[in-house]
Amino acid sequence: MAVKAPRGTADLLPQEARAWDQLSRLALRIFGSYGYEPIETPIFEQTDMFTRGIGEATDVVGKEMFQVLSKNAYATLLEGGKLAADQRLSLRPEGTASVVRAVQEHNLVPSGAAPAKLMYFGPMFRCERPQKGRLRQFHQIGAECLGAHEPSVDAEMIIMLMRFFEKAGVPRSNMRLIINSMGDDNCRPAYRDSVRDFILAHGSELCDECNRRAHTNPLRALDCKNPACKQVLAAAPTIDNALCDDCRAHYEAVKAYLDMAGIEYVEDPHLVRGLDYYTNTVFEVQVIDGLGSQNAIGGGGRYDKLMESVGGKPTPGIGFALGFERLMLALEAAGVQLGGGSNLDVFVACVDASMRAASFKVLQSLRDAGVRADADHQARSLKSQFKLADKLAAPLVVVVGPDEFERGEVTLRDMASKEQRNVSIEELPTAVKGLLGE
Ligand code: HAM
Repeated sequence: MAVKAPRGTADLLPQEARAWDQLSRLALRIFGSYGYEPIETPIFEQTDMFTRGIGEATDVVGKEMFQVLSKNAYATLLEGGKLAADQRLSLRPEGTASVVRAVQEHNLVPSGAAPAKLMYFGPMFRCERPQKGRLRQFHQIGAECLGAHEPSVDAEMIIMLMRFFEKAGVPRSNMRLIINSMGDDNCRPAYRDSVRDFILAHGSELCDECNRRAHTNPLRALDCKNPACKQVLAAAPTIDNALCDDCRAHYEAVKAYLDMAGIEYVEDPHLVRGLDYYTNTVFEVQVIDGLGSQNAIGGGGRYDKLMESVGGKPTPGIGFALGFERLMLALEAAGVQLGGGSNLDVFVACVDASMRAASFKVLQSLRDAGVRADADHQARSLKSQFKLADKLAAPLVVVVGPDEFERGEVTLRDMASKEQRNVSIEELPTAVKGLLGE
């Protein structure tokens, strides 16, 4: 039986891989203009780092992490032994905790320094039930700002994310930006208790998972997708009435900046997000039509306590991540096609087998001059070589024939206009670049 890719993973075939590259470059350009620089962290980290950073009671840590075991560690487990902390490893389910760990480890925000503005691109791993827009290996583009607490940074983050989506081609009219404040250690515990009490009081109308969450992570119940639970929980206490003065002032200031920038948003006092590290501002961008239930193309928020939970000194932080696969679905729904077009400028064809070596030389000289060129390597006839050039969407074809080659020339054909002329081999790269408009 032929081997297939693991469940919940997808190959990025050339067109998608090109789209990933285009979107990564767009992010480098847009986020770069806001002062963000790239960072790369390992694909796997110590499990404890994720547990402490993201929260044991979250689905991401509690249910969805892929553990990484070396052969030795696996043998230790089979023999009933215990693993040391540095043997307990997991594939990263997200990028924020790792970036914060790296900032702490390399002291990227020493006291009094400017904030560290970092962005990352890469695969993340969550062992969820696969469905449209939900994979076990997916790709995120993310940005994190460490070291600034002012609400202007929160607004800047949100504006930057919305600008990225719009430049990528998602119509503004098909996006919904949802915002909320999660409060902080000062005001959230009382709010959490009030939601727990609400769940316990309505236990018989709610699913087992919501009842379980009353004791582990009550706020996560607010995100339950069960329609009956949704209806009941719509009447649960909202955090807007529970925010302390500082949190309320922060939230009002973020909204004022967004208003000033003309960014439309919807407030949802039940938006809680799936990771435990959030404090104050949280946000999510949803696509209105075309994505089904997995409609969040990006989200993020402030996490002023995360640095301490991975052992660093108090450092405020805020960031977001967007999902490449979901963004591609949103672009498809909007009729935007990324990653298309030819990756070839010239196809070099030889008239017959006697010209194969000569055309190889011409091909080489074009590549040396930086022209994207290719040729047939399957001994095709001239007619089939032209068909191949067509299939590869090469705008130009060079034909190498014996008489012309004898005179130091080749034929250069423009495939769109069908015009052709003889060009000296020496001047070929310049002539090609001229026709390509370079
Ligand atoms: P998140 O909401 O878990 O946040 O993920 C961000 C985005 O990744 C989602 O909006 C979605 O587009 C995509 N995504 C998540 N899970 C999957 C999946 N299983 N399959 C496909 N796409 C998925 C975070 O990851 C936070 N680290 C964001 C953040 C950064 N908060 C602060 N800084």
